[in-house]
Amino acid sequence: MTNAIIVKKKIENFNKKIFIPGDKSLSIRWVLFSSIATGISKAKNLLLSEDVLAAIDAIKKLGIKVNNNKNNCEIYGKGINGYRYKKNLVVNAKNSGTLGRLILGLFINSPFPIKLIGDNSLSKRDFKRIAEPLKKFGAKFTLYKNKTLPLTICGSKNLRPIYFNENKGSAQVKSSVIFAAMRADGETLIKAKKSRNHTELLCKYLKLPIKINKSKNYDFIKIRKIKKIKALNYLIPSDISSAAFFIVLTALSKNSKLEIKNININPTRIGIIKILKKMGVSIILKNKKKYKGELIADIFIKSSENLKAINCPSNLNSGTIDEFLLIFLVAARAKGISYFKDLSELNQKESPRLKLGAKILRNMGVKVKLTNSSIKIHGNPGMIVNKKIEIKNFLKDHRVFMTSVIAAYCFGGNWKIHDKDSIKTSFPNFLKIIKSINEN
Ligand code: S3P
Repeated sequence: MTNAIIVKKKIENFNKKIFIPGDKSLSIRWVLFSSIATGISKAKNLLLSEDVLAAIDAIKKLGIKVNNNKNNCEIYGKGINGYRYKKNLVVNAKNSGTLGRLILGLFINSPFPIKLIGDNSLSKRDFKRIAEPLKKFGAKFTLYKNKTLPLTICGSKNLRPIYFNENKGSAQVKSSVIFAAMRADGETLIKAKKSRNHTELLCKYLKLPIKINKSKNYDFIKIRKIKKIKALNYLIPSDISSAAFFIVLTALSKNSKLEIKNININPTRIGIIKILKKMGVSIILKNKKKYKGELIADIFIKSSENLKAINCPSNLNSGTIDEFLLIFLVAARAKGISYFKDLSELNQKESPRLKLGAKILRNMGVKVKLTNSSIKIHGNPGMIVNKKIEIKNFLKDHRVFMTSVIAAYCFGGNWKIHDKDSIKTSFPNFLKIIKSINEN
């Protein structure tokens, strides 16, 4: 069976309402928090993608019972020290940086070495960034070539609290250190460059001993040892990073409108909305409500003409980090030269996305100037594609595949896009939703 899709025809003239699966960051965090809670935690609308299923498999290996029926999931937590650590344990984080990094924070007190492995893409990613702070608590690590997976972590009984300056804006690193700090005697202080704050919001909702002081670019997080986490029932809101594909599809298609229900619009995640509004896209958020510390809304979006280029302020980078490939497509249709900078972190994702974004645009015939941390995109409001394009996605990056599909439906041309299976990582029904929009 082929694992490529062919797209030969633009999509236009649609007026639809869609539902997006649960947020990936929240789904993984819910699994991990529930695994160390006391009692049965229940979730609805849990994202059932490979990343989240890998998280469920990981906690099962640690002796935690899970009942997973469609997207109702129950986790039988046995308390903060309830993991059953065995000798020679191997945990496979597959494609998930979030799982691989966060779970290391929970292993900080493991009495035996645990081996962490991942797929080809995850095995190329930086784990030194997580080993360094976790070593300061007292854990021991061996990393392949001092930097990557496979790695081994061995925890300690005598964990020291630490001071940690997180200056990459990585929520994964910050969250892992928060998990480790929950087990250390005394108070850990993290100076964290702004990044998504779901872990902190969950800690607050669960009334864990966390204090946060905010400055313009940094959060100062103090966290103390915890004794107990109560079970956590959660209706997972839908993922803005998945909704983003359809926001851009609508903005770049003719005579179209879309309503996307119940999206998590946590202020640390909505860089895409801020950037697209600055570029002239019509987006309205309605029915805003709070849910367990998170903010949720319905998103209304229309086809947008007269798009303007942007000189993107880098303080929007962390809140947009998973959506830049899509924003680059909007820049290709905008009037003028767009500039995105301080984006070296984008090359640290499931594949080097800044480079791959430039590659997709160049294939389409867009003029691009790329450095290791920035990209200039020469936009053209009349931009269409009328040639053959083939996208080979060597690390099977789900967002590269889905962005290419959106480009094909918005700009035209004759596209062959490989590695369709990659959508299972974060958005298994992506192509079904495209199909439902395409059926007028
Ligand atoms: C995530 C954090 C981000 C993001 C990833 C999910 C999270 O990564 O790119 O898709 O759930 O914490 P970094 O923390 O490495 O920036």
